[in-house]
Amino acid sequence: MKGLILSGGKGTRLYPLTFTSAKQLIPVANKPVLFRVIEAIRDAGITDIGIVVGDTAEEIKRAVGRGGRWGVNITYIPQEQPLGLAHAVKISQDFLGDDRFVMFLGDNVIQGGISPLIAQFASSEYNSQIVLTRVDQPEQYGVAELDPDGRIVRLVEKPKEPPSDLALVGIYMFDHHIFEAVNAITPSWRGELEITDAIQWLVENGYKVYPYIHRGWWIDTGRPGDMLEANSLVLEELTPVVEGYIDRDSEVDSRVTVEKGAEIINSVVRGPAIIGQDTRIVNAYVGPFTSIYHHCLIENAEISRSIVLEHCQIRNINRRIEDSLIGRHVVLHRSPIRPRAYKFTLGDYSHVGLLGEDSG
Ligand code: TTP
Repeated sequence: MKGLILSGGKGTRLYPLTFTSAKQLIPVANKPVLFRVIEAIRDAGITDIGIVVGDTAEEIKRAVGRGGRWGVNITYIPQEQPLGLAHAVKISQDFLGDDRFVMFLGDNVIQGGISPLIAQFASSEYNSQIVLTRVDQPEQYGVAELDPDGRIVRLVEKPKEPPSDLALVGIYMFDHHIFEAVNAITPSWRGELEITDAIQWLVENGYKVYPYIHRGWWIDTGRPGDMLEANSLVLEELTPVVEGYIDRDSEVDSRVTVEKGAEIINSVVRGPAIIGQDTRIVNAYVGPFTSIYHHCLIENAEISRSIVLEHCQIRNINRRIEDSLIGRHVVLHRSPIRPRAYKFTLGDYSHVGLLGEDSG
């Protein structure tokens, strides 16, 4: 089997972080989501992996390379424009050939890996198997309808009256018949070749399309809130390792990972949390579900349930920062210069939540 990771797209819902860089490279528990996807595919025994890339191709190639680090072979497949998930499959035909393959959205995080589903599909006669999971509000997802024999008969996008509570996760398995489908369908109202239309085409043309019901959690990290949620879930499962320095005046609980070269001085860190390489935490509080990436400084400040990207400085802030996603090289500090006013240099589409006058 081969693996196909979709890592193009625009990432508009994660602006401004994704204006200039790939959303798949935003770290969750200090590891880019895309690296987690590559590892999940590799751990399922697949070493031939294609990555569909768009505008952020160069950044992704720089970060991932040829795959040697994971013991896999990476082939890059350029997609001129994000014309849909089925379009991404279409342009990958040369790479995929006649092999069965798993397609994984490069911004999805799944609990427990994908080995069981790969094993099941590899030994089955199904033409396609679609990973589904039970959700509370199926009207917000793509939903599958199954027949009494358990086959998929229909897929509906965000249905007002959902035929089931089984939503599509961003993982799909196909054999080569999918190319007939992606070549037969036409773009949807939003101008994209939809993978749901391609799967529906397989169903209607008599191919065997079955579900695989995933029982753990799964997160599509499309929006900032989803990133924080994925970060919390992955941190909870992380086995803590301390390779950095913790001074005697600090209180760091057992579910905290401290990476190489990191220093925690006179601070309190409550887990689950991760402090990145060469980051310094000085006279500060880092609360649960927080990931501070490498080369940051958190000094005289408090932060919890947040993700801070590399090379940030957060200094002398007298309110706790919470539920925040902070991009690369951001400096947040209290200015000693009068007048006492907020002074910002914010990128387009930034979000800042300030306390109101009456909130103390
Ligand atoms: P989406 O989250 O559906 O799209 P997007 O990345 O453009 O994000 P937004 O809606 O915020 O603008 O894409 C899911 C994954 O598939 C993501 O990793 C990007 C990738 N993708 C492609 O590689 N090619 C495509 O044509 C599309 C639509 C998505």
